[in-house]
Amino acid sequence: MKDREPIFGPPKNPIEIVSSETGISLRQLTPDDARVAFDLIDRNREHLSQFGDVTARNYVTYDQMLNSIILPRNPFRLRFGIRNAEGIYVGSINVTPTVENREVGEIGYYIGREFEGQGYTTSAVNALTDYAFENLGYQELFGSVVDGNTGSVRVLQKAGFTERERITINDTVLIQLYKVKPV
Ligand SMILES: CC(C)(COP(=O)(O)OP(=O)(O)OC[C@H]1O[C@@H](n2cnc3c(N)ncnc32)[C@H](O)[C@@H]1OP(=O)(O)O)[C@@H](O)C(=O)NCCC(=O)NCCS
Repeated sequence: MKDREPIFGPPKNPIEIVSSETGISLRQLTPDDARVAFDLIDRNREHLSQFGDVTARNYVTYDQMLNSIILPRNPFRLRFGIRNAEGIYVGSINVTPTVENREVGEIGYYIGREFEGQGYTTSAVNALTDYAFENLGYQELFGSVVDGNTGSVRVLQKAGFTERERITINDTVLIQLYKVKPV
């Protein structure tokens, strides 16, 4: 499957997914997005780190963001910028196949604090989930949420994910919510 080949450089034909329902669009990150993506992280460091997420730590400088797009850390991860109907960059979402089974994918996401509570993440998860089942060969998708991150659990539940298990890593309880490809 073409879109599932490893990425060893910036995408030549970035995938774009538009939700006809909400106008939210997802576009695979390219070097042109590095500035806006970094600036959003830079002004949201506390917000993004409140449940121990490493995003803010991974992108301390603009060059780290640019380099991660030019030479992705995980060549199998598809990373998208999320834009609202007005075309404003509001956050990011990604999907990564698991090492054990490439038909199972993990999704991760964040939105800038100034854009919270407008349904953007739910819309982005819905759009990516539909696309991943239809075009990327995934049979199952899941999100792993730190216990206490009520907003993120709610996002996944609204997008049709249900809790399957809880795992504890280094004293942190992770709630794992799954969605199976609809028949
Ligand atoms: C959690 C997060 C993704 C929510 O994004 P969002 O765009 O505000 O979510 P939505 O607007 O789509 O909201 C979906 C639902 O979650 C609820 N919700 C959002 N934030 C919430 C919070 N902090 N507490 C309780 N409910 C919350 C909304 O009310 C909505 O439910 P409703 O329609 O029943 O009212 C966002 O706050 C974020 O990026 N946080 C920091 C990074 C992070 O935690 N990422 C996820 C890691 S697993």
